[in-house]
Formats: sequence, structure tokens, C-alpha cells
Amino acid sequence: MEELRQTAGRLVSGGKGIFAADASVKSISARLAKYGVAESEEERRKYRQLLFTTPGIGEFVSGVIMHDESFRQTDGSGKLFRETLAEAGILPGIKVDRGTVDLANFPGEKVTEGLDGLRERLEEYAQMGACFTKWRAVIVIGEKIPTREAIKINADILARYAALSQEAGMVPVVEPEVVMEGGHNAERCAEVTTQTGKIVFEVLAEMKVDFGGMIYKVNMILPGRENREEISDEDVAQKTCEVLGRIVPVDTAGVVFLSGGQDPVTATRRLNAIVKHDKTAWPMTFSFERALEQAAMEKWLGKDENIEFAQKELLYRARMNSLAARGFYSGEDV
Ligand code: G3H
Repeated sequence: MEELRQTAGRLVSGGKGIFAADASVKSISARLAKYGVAESEEERRKYRQLLFTTPGIGEFVSGVIMHDESFRQTDGSGKLFRETLAEAGILPGIKVDRGTVDLANFPGEKVTEGLDGLRERLEEYAQMGACFTKWRAVIVIGEKIPTREAIKINADILARYAALSQEAGMVPVVEPEVVMEGGHNAERCAEVTTQTGKIVFEVLAEMKVDFGGMIYKVNMILPGRENREEISDEDVAQKTCEVLGRIVPVDTAGVVFLSGGQDPVTATRRLNAIVKHDKTAWPMTFSFERALEQAAMEKWLGKDENIEFAQKELLYRARMNSLAARGFYSGEDV
């Protein structure tokens, strides 16, 4: 338990954050294809190599969450990515859920799969050097959803996963994401995020998960993507801290935010406002995917001659978010 707590502390301290580079094969391929990159394992490997070997990235990133495919891949010299990251002082993590499917009898709602055989998979990942794991549940807001039943089943699964991850000696990153899709306002997002968080922590406690050895990954409190409501950074910060204060127990190791498809600079600004807003009991930082790597992907275009530019973009975004994680972000460098 002490080791788990130390690892969790490392992931959320020093102004560093987590790089969630764990998109599934299907979604990373689709995103790369938009920039003309062929859908093949080798192209995905090259892309991940570019990201994970970015010089200096360890100054701003404490951990990288990988997908099973990249967890087993090597760089050009034959060195495993997870070893390259560890040498740069970055903790290697692994996403262990197997994605979402429709929840039977609950139209529009999702449940995450992957519990079958999880104990054995976790054992293998731990032996391969993973220090932490991630599981993402998806909570959708709609006219009559989420239902209590959908939240409860996802919470039960998250808690079972978290207990197994701690048993295997790896810090669980417990992520019930209230997704931005929809026309709801920020109040509704706050209400659903609160309801979800309360149920999740209740079940985590019942399953005897050690909060000091786990990280809570959550959405910021925002209006839905189709809602035209303007919201200031201060308002996002105030609402987000209020919700988190109600749901996250004081002994939780840390809270990290997903970017959820926000524009990268906006996500950085809002993170900064949240961190500055309140003195919370637990550290808060980023665990972004799109908001960290979008610019790098746009620069790379699958071409070797663009690798350096793409790495500079990633390093820059990581530095901006590291400033925000300490509340020191004052705008983009020009
Ligand atoms: O599960 C969500 C990812 O880990 C974070 O991705 O920052 O693009 O929302 P995102």
C-alpha cells in the first residue's frame, strides 16, 4: 500500500501531469487517417515513437497511459517504449478496459467491458513494468438519462477494477467521464457529475479500495457541446471545485482532468483557473489526450521530416499545461 501511495503521489505532484496516449487502435487510426496517415500498426508505432521520445517531455509529464498495442511496441533501436519512458523518469501506465458497449434495456447508455480475465492481464502488465492503470466509464446526459441503474453498474465495475489493480500493485486511475455530447447546461453537468461521483466513491469504499493509492479522473464542469451558453473560466473553476469538494474524499491521492474534446488552449486556461480557484485537500493536474497531442498530430502528417516540429508542439503544450497545473499559466508564449 505504501508503494501504491508513493506512485500515486508521484503521478500528481511537481506540476507534472499524465499524458493519456491510450486511444484504441480504431480511434487513433481514424484520427491519423484525417491527416493522411495510413492505417497500419507501423504508422501507429511511428507516431507513438515520436510522442514518447520527445526530448525533455519528462520535465512536464509524470506518467504516460498506453494502449496494449504500444505497451508492447519498441522504438527504432528495438527498445520497448515503456523502457524509454521509464528512463526519462516517466511512469508507464496501461489502459485496461476494453471499451464501451450499449447497456441492454437502457437506450442511449453505455457500460464498459473488460473485467473477464482482468486479474491475469493485470498480473502480466505488472510484470512488464506498468506502475498504474486506467479504466474509463462513460456517462451520457440526455432527456431522461443517465439512469441511476446505469451509473450504479458502471460504478460497481469501476470499483471491482480498482480493487484488482491495487491487488496487482498498480495505482488505478478511476475515470467515470460525463461526456460533453448534448445540449445540456453546466448546472446539469454538475448535477450528473455529483451524482456519479457520490455513487462511485460509495462503491469504492464498500470494495475497500485505498483512496490514498488511487487517482480520480474526471471531466470539468461544462455545458454540453451543443449548448450555446457562454461560460467563463472562473465559472468553470468555481463549479468544478464545488462538485469535487462534495464527492472526492480528502484522503484521495489526486484528481486529474480529461480534456473531453475541448480546444487545447481553452483546456489549459480552465485547468489553470481550477487549480488557482481553491485550496483542495488533494493535488489536481491534467490527464489529457487530445488537448496535449492534437497540435503534434497536425504537424507530423506521417512525414519523417516533420518529427522535430511535431515534438516541439507536444513539448510546448506539455509545458503550458504544467504551468497551468501549478496555477502559473498566463497565456500562450508567442
Ligand atoms: O479517457 C479519456 C482520455 O484518457 C483523455 O482524453 O483528454 O482527449 O478527453 P481526452
